Amino acid sequence: MTVLQKVYIKNYGCQMNVYDGQKMADLLKPHGYCITESPDDADVAILNTCHIREKAEHKVFSDLGRLNVLKKDRIAAEARDMLIAVGGCVGQAEGAEITRQAPYVDMVFGPQSYHRLPEMLAQLEHKVKGKRRRIVNTEFPVESKFDFLPVPDETQVSAFLSIQEGCDKFCHFCVVPYTRGSEYSRPALQIIKEAKHLASIGAKEITLLGQNVNGYHGEGIDGKEWSLGRLLYDLAEIDGLKRIRYTTSHPLDMHDDLYNAHRDIDKLMPFLHLPVQSGSNKILNAMNRKHTADEYLKIIERLRNARSEIAFSSDFIVGYPGESDQDHKETIALVERVGFIQAYSFKYSPRTGTPASALLTQVPENVKSDRLAELQNSLNTLQLAFNETMVGKIVEVLFDRQGKAPQQIIGKTPYMQSVTLDGDCSLFGNFLMVKINNGYNNSLAGELI
Ligand code: 5AD
Ligand code: SF4
Repeated sequence: MTVLQKVYIKNYGCQMNVYDGQKMADLLKPHGYCITESPDDADVAILNTCHIREKAEHKVFSDLGRLNVLKKDRIAAEARDMLIAVGGCVGQAEGAEITRQAPYVDMVFGPQSYHRLPEMLAQLEHKVKGKRRRIVNTEFPVESKFDFLPVPDETQVSAFLSIQEGCDKFCHFCVVPYTRGSEYSRPALQIIKEAKHLASIGAKEITLLGQNVNGYHGEGIDGKEWSLGRLLYDLAEIDGLKRIRYTTSHPLDMHDDLYNAHRDIDKLMPFLHLPVQSGSNKILNAMNRKHTADEYLKIIERLRNARSEIAFSSDFIVGYPGESDQDHKETIALVERVGFIQAYSFKYSPRTGTPASALLTQVPENVKSDRLAELQNSLNTLQLAFNETMVGKIVEVLFDRQGKAPQQIIGKTPYMQSVTLDGDCSLFGNFLMVKINNGYNNSLAGELI
């Protein structure tokens, strides 16, 4: 019997990366690889990296240093190598820098070429026996990787499904158009097939993924171009799927049929992540967001008219070059006005090659820190207030995870709030009615009714 090679995959960054990491595992399994949770006994270690902010990139280089120690120790103790691969967005953007700073890395590849992993690893294994060889694959291939990804044989109760990738919007702070390439939408038939398959193996909820997911414009099953709104109607017909979500959206791509979908489709959860980044028109314009704060507020209003119970989350960047105290105040004002129930907020991080990084009006680090603290204070207050409104209510929760304490499980409400409950994993995959007893900053606690 051949011994399975153990592969360790570490994902950084966004949900798209988590999806890619799962697909890498699915790709490798039929080729004699199994997944291991720790690098200690791995034959192959893959870092599936994120390039969005400097911090994420630093983490990759420090993790690489640790893997190198492990690799050297392994070779010294057992004369057995560990192949180190850097995939994902740092791989795509920093191929040359990685091979310079970390010459022990055996393979570098980007998010659009990982469907060739089995073939690339097979080439490398020749190397182990012979001379040192390194593979760097950061081309954007002509074929779509989606045509080569295998059908998974297992799924989470709450599954990701990538429907769109890449970005043509070129916000001035962002690396995504360079790391993920230009916008691509998968054909609707492929997506519907994958969604049906996921439902047939136990998925109850799917989150459609894309860097500009509402910019989806794939080939429909009638041969015409379909929007996200149109696609949602077909996905909602799939038996077994009870909840549908999509992320991440851009305000410019809110089209009529998407509002209609929110109005008509009960399975579409009443919670939308719609990043606004800033509440100042001056900064929105400088960021190249192509909309004003007012236009964003109108979108929110229109969505509320379509689905009264809808709630919102957003991403924010503080300390964008040229941001004044007044601009920052306008961001806080927009936050209060919308009443976001959840949000991610970041200090602006200059990224080489993006227009904003070259601006001379960079905001000092201490100012960014102060603004971030103030913004997060507002956001946390809103989030807690929303969580507290749930106390006493009975909500439907999909349980799918073990909690920290034994006999504690965690599930999600329609609004993505985590609910903890005393119970065991036999309840996973069920939608249960839970009476909420406590609302905290980041979670709710309740009891089954
Ligand atoms: N600095 C800080 N935050 C950033 N984001 C994207 N690029 C940067 C950057 N250079 C944030 C945005 C985006 C989220 C995914 O990451 O808020 O919506
Ligand atoms: Fe990070 Fe963006 Fe790449 Fe996701 S797409 S891994 S957020 S750089």
